[in-house]
Parts: sequence; structure tokens; C-alpha cells
Amino acid sequence: MQIAIDGPAGSGKSTIAKLVATKLGFIYCDTGAMYRTVTLMALRAQLPLADEAAIMRHLEALTISFQPSADGQLVFMNGEDVTLAIREPETTNNVSQVAALPAVRAELVKRQRAIAEAHDIVMDGRDIGTTVLPNAAVKIFLIASVAERAKRRFKENQARGITTPLAELEAEIAERDRKDSTRATSPLRKAADAVELDSTSMTIDEEVSEILALVAQAQ
Ligand code: C5P
Repeated sequence: MQIAIDGPAGSGKSTIAKLVATKLGFIYCDTGAMYRTVTLMALRAQLPLADEAAIMRHLEALTISFQPSADGQLVFMNGEDVTLAIREPETTNNVSQVAALPAVRAELVKRQRAIAEAHDIVMDGRDIGTTVLPNAAVKIFLIASVAERAKRRFKENQARGITTPLAELEAEIAERDRKDSTRATSPLRKAADAVELDSTSMTIDEEVSEILALVAQAQ
């Protein structure tokens, strides 16, 4: 069974997706972490972020893997734990540019489908319901106001020792929404058959219960 959870930056997708996956005993795949890892690779190699051919040459030799951990999931780039590095502001602020490259998307979509083929899965991202898993049994489009999303990111950052001011986070989130929604290849968009959930004033428990009810209906 495939469950697709899409939505803009900071809408709470990964928190909700992880909980739903744990409840159901499914694996969880964070596709944003894959785009972030490719971005980190390109930044470290000092590749121009518009140089698709150079990024693709590096990406072909790159392994991205996940490992479950107590508080979610660890992300590895060629065996190195990059779980924290991919959340640093430099990666966050450049990821939309790398994620707009069609060849990068084609390669990561191929890898995402291969992961989904072998398991019952909850996958979160921007284009899961529209492109990666168009036949997913349940599709959720999770939204929340920019102010609420910035507030959540601010709290998350505090726990990680990142001190970006709230107003800056709001501007960054709005800019990432704009880039992700307006790019030519697989823009952020609600699939026609997705259920929209506005998490601005919902608790995490309410969101998870609502999704589990949709899964039960689909089973
Ligand atoms: O979900 P997260 O905020 O970590 O994603 C980081 C970025 O990766 C997004 O802003 C978007 O540019 C890109 N992304 C994407 N397609 C996905 C998942 C993420 O383009 N399926």
C-alpha cells in the first residue's frame, strides 16, 4: 500500500508521515531529504547549481540511504551521516534550485519508485501524489499558513541550535513555496484525487487520526 503526503515547506509532512508509518508498520521515505542530499553534494563539490550536467555526473556515483532511528530517520550520503548537515540554512536555501533541474528529478523519482516498489510505504514530498506514486491508495495534501509554518520551523531550529530569526524564516518559506510551485517540472500541486488537510489549527493527533481513517477506508 502506498500513502502519498505532499505539501509546502514546513507544513508538518515529515512529522505526520513518520507517525502514520509507525502506526501502520510501513516504511517512511522523506523525498525532501534526497533533494537536500544532492544539494549538499553539489555545494561541497563547489558545483555551479545551474550546471545540471556536472551535478548529474556526481549524482550517478552518489548513494543516498536511510536508517530508522529513535527520533525518526538518519540520512546517509555515500555512507556519511548527513542528517543534520542537510538541514543547515545553506542547504535549505539552495535546495529549490537543485530540485528544479529536470534530470535530477528524473533520477530521484526513479530511486523513489524503486524504494516504494518493495514495501508498504508512506512517502512525503511535493510531487508524490502527482508524479512519483500516481496510483497511491491515499493522497494527502497538507497545508498550513506561512506564519504557522515559520513558527514551527523556528521551534525545530531552536532544538538544533540554529538561530535564524522568525521574520527571516517566514520570508524563506514564502520564497521556497514560490519556487516549488512555479517550477516547470513537477511543481508543488495538489493531485486531483488528494484530500486537503489544513493543519494550521489541528493537533498532530487529529491529523494522524484523520489520515488513519482515510487509510482504513481505502483498505
Ligand atoms: O520537504 P523538504 O522541505 O525537506 O524539501 C526540501 C526541498 O526539496 C523542497 O523545498 C523542494 O524544493 C524539494 N523537493 C521537491 N520534491 C519533493 C520533495 C522535496 O522538489 N518530492
